[in-house]
Amino acid sequence: MTDGSPLQSYQVEPHLFVVLGGTGDLARRKLVPALRRLASLGVLGSRRAILAVARDADLDDLGFREWVREALRESGAPEEEIDRLGDARLFYEGLPKGDRGDYARLARRVREIEQQCELPGNRVFYMALPPRVFPEVVEGLAETDLNEGPGWTRLVVEKPFGRDLESARRLNETIHRHFDESQVYRIDHYLGKETVQNLLVFRFANALFESQWNRERIEEVQITVSEDLGIGSRAGYYDGSGALRDMIQNHMAQLLSLVGMEVPGRFDAESVRQEKIKLLRSVSPIEGENVVRARYTGGEVDGRQVPGYMDEPGVDPRSTTETYVALALGIDNWRWQGVPFYLRTGKRLDRRLTQIAVRFREPPVCMFESMGACETHSNVLLLTLQPDEGFALVVDVKVPGEPFELRRIPLDFFYKQAFEGIPDAYQTLLLDVLTGDQTLFVHAEEAEASWDLFGPLLDPDSTPQKYTPGSWGPVEADALLGRRGHRWLDPVDHPDLGEDS
Ligand code: BG6
Repeated sequence: MTDGSPLQSYQVEPHLFVVLGGTGDLARRKLVPALRRLASLGVLGSRRAILAVARDADLDDLGFREWVREALRESGAPEEEIDRLGDARLFYEGLPKGDRGDYARLARRVREIEQQCELPGNRVFYMALPPRVFPEVVEGLAETDLNEGPGWTRLVVEKPFGRDLESARRLNETIHRHFDESQVYRIDHYLGKETVQNLLVFRFANALFESQWNRERIEEVQITVSEDLGIGSRAGYYDGSGALRDMIQNHMAQLLSLVGMEVPGRFDAESVRQEKIKLLRSVSPIEGENVVRARYTGGEVDGRQVPGYMDEPGVDPRSTTETYVALALGIDNWRWQGVPFYLRTGKRLDRRLTQIAVRFREPPVCMFESMGACETHSNVLLLTLQPDEGFALVVDVKVPGEPFELRRIPLDFFYKQAFEGIPDAYQTLLLDVLTGDQTLFVHAEEAEASWDLFGPLLDPDSTPQKYTPGSWGPVEADALLGRRGHRWLDPVDHPDLGEDS
């Protein structure tokens, strides 16, 4: 985990980075650009190589080197950095069949490259692949003894990790037959986001907040991950997934855990991950009446006509997939008993925003009533993870002069103003894989605890509610909070962004 010390102090040992699915979209958009940035920062050292593995039997090392250059140009890398990864360290191997013979060839190629580049046998196997092939790849690597090399061997598993509790368990079993948990890095790219990591610092480095972080002081917590785009051309994946699997079970479960967990004894992978698991296990089972599933209809957004979910190309006409989920949950422990946590996420909503809003309890009495200014408000802490990374603590102040009037203003901080640039999540996570730090990766038990909690909410037999594109979601989601005397704190509640409410 990048802890603020200069990246140059990181020691990456000589290694071979094998990307299975090495010419796919993820490799092109995220992995290769992130490895290039790390190389440019000088943290990867010179004894390293990348081996891309994919089905295409016609591609070779030269073709892959050209592919890398194109990917880097597309990613906006400066021209003088395009060759940073070094042609002589880039290799390609086609596995057209994915059978035992193919894996035996892969094993030979791995050893050849290690000899040629004088590498000691430290290996990363990154599965940038569709999840259905994870088990066969794990078996293929193990059959050819690639699960344990002469140096360290690390396996990176992309999301989604299973489709439900059962499949996540099966996948964990397959992986654990051949790899020790200490070798496994389950990726949730939210954990690589600088602002998500900052949640831990915010809570545990600032005694001021930690002492308020409980049911005595907090009225409610709202976590919003909204996106303005629809599913675009991703129906092939999305229609079989939906918002619950795509966002709630992983990214939002991570945000929930980091906001709600107890203080870890130490800042290391074991302690942090155990606290997150404990938190997920403390959440009370979520009743169906506390969940709203919905999907967007067609309509006009910013003067442009956009299709409804059912009219997106590739969506099954019988689909019951949701593009929006809102839910209310409670955490059954001393710290949080009685405090509702509201989660909502959706596509084609008002704007792109990832925000955690912590609303504190209102003052017990209004002592300004006699002055004609009775309306005091709750303090709200807004932690914005994207797009305007930063935080704001909303407080009441007196408007100067007469009449006596209160106004809410934010005490705020924006990353953009305080720091230069925020590293991309994949850059952070790949560096952690290479340095062997599992803190920001999902533990086997954590993946299962999350499925255990959210899996029962999957509801393929019921038709989701509807919401208008460009809105904040369906009316049913407002009612979900209304029943408890609460309402969604839309960003207009941030006084910088709109009228005081
Ligand atoms: C991905 C989901 O994991 O996260 C996408 O599959 C979603 O559907 C994306 O759009 C959101 O990530 P970010 O970093 O843009 O918030």
